Amino acid sequence: MARKKIALIGAGQIGGTLALLSGLKHLGDVVLFDIAEGIPQGKALDIAEAAPVEGFDAKLAGTNDYKDIAGADVVIVTAGVPRKPGMSRDDLVETNAKVMHQVGEGIKQYCPDAFVICITNPLDAMVLVLQQASGLPPHKVCGMAGVLDSARFRHFLAEEMNVSVKDVNAFVLGGHGDTMVPVTRYSTVAGIPLPDLVEMGWITQERVDAIVERTRKGGGEIVGLLKTGSAFYAPASSAISMAESYLLDRKRVLPAAAHLTGQYGVNDMYVGVPVVIGENGIERIVELKFTDDEQQMFNHSVDAVRELVDACKKLGAL
Ligand code: LMR
Repeated sequence: MARKKIALIGAGQIGGTLALLSGLKHLGDVVLFDIAEGIPQGKALDIAEAAPVEGFDAKLAGTNDYKDIAGADVVIVTAGVPRKPGMSRDDLVETNAKVMHQVGEGIKQYCPDAFVICITNPLDAMVLVLQQASGLPPHKVCGMAGVLDSARFRHFLAEEMNVSVKDVNAFVLGGHGDTMVPVTRYSTVAGIPLPDLVEMGWITQERVDAIVERTRKGGGEIVGLLKTGSAFYAPASSAISMAESYLLDRKRVLPAAAHLTGQYGVNDMYVGVPVVIGENGIERIVELKFTDDEQQMFNHSVDAVRELVDACKKLGAL
């Protein structure tokens, strides 16, 4: 069977980590693209030299030329700039919308059949710009943040209750901003919902509330610590889990920024919701039943995404 091809657009911290994880997980050959000369080539060579030690046979190439991504099965986009301390993700909209436009055109020309995962911020609006510029069908383009935000929520909950992260399931939905919605009712430990765990005394409601707040600000917490950029290990792991579900037709149910056409009362926007990812891309959008409170929080988050989409329209990116 021919090896799959994974194109990584952007060879920064996330791009490099994605390339390493793709190799370690035997997902296929990797092409690392960046406009900065030498960086993608250097990182690809470095990881290729780790391959004999780690025992993977993937071909790794670095390039500054879009034509080398031709025929990629999966494209993961991290191009653009990250935020620095004191900035919000929304401050990146103007710079990154332009970058998404160029990347979308490259994808359109060289890999119109790919499954595309966007990581660039402000995420939900950038996925829409990327999808429109690429002309790919909306179910073949999605955004990564839901897996990342849910992973943060899962980590904090597991740490608090002193249980394995493997047994903690959680959904964080809505936009990838400070208004995101960690849905406690649908978060479980070994199938036991969080509200029941509060009643059982495993965790207090005050701690749940504090963890919800910490999750919402999880990206900013890392930016504040790193000072020179934003998180990269967890974002890369999150995107790779989505790529893996597509490439191996795992049909995993994961929270992702997906194109909504009326679901959750949202039209023609990308927002974080649970989806099924398989060989056809986003194969299904899972429509959860919200309480009035949850719906209100979700709507508030959608409004924040809409403002960014409107900003992209004003900039002529949409
Ligand atoms: C994250 O959540 O880590 C990313 O969106 C990066 C950021 O700026 O917070």
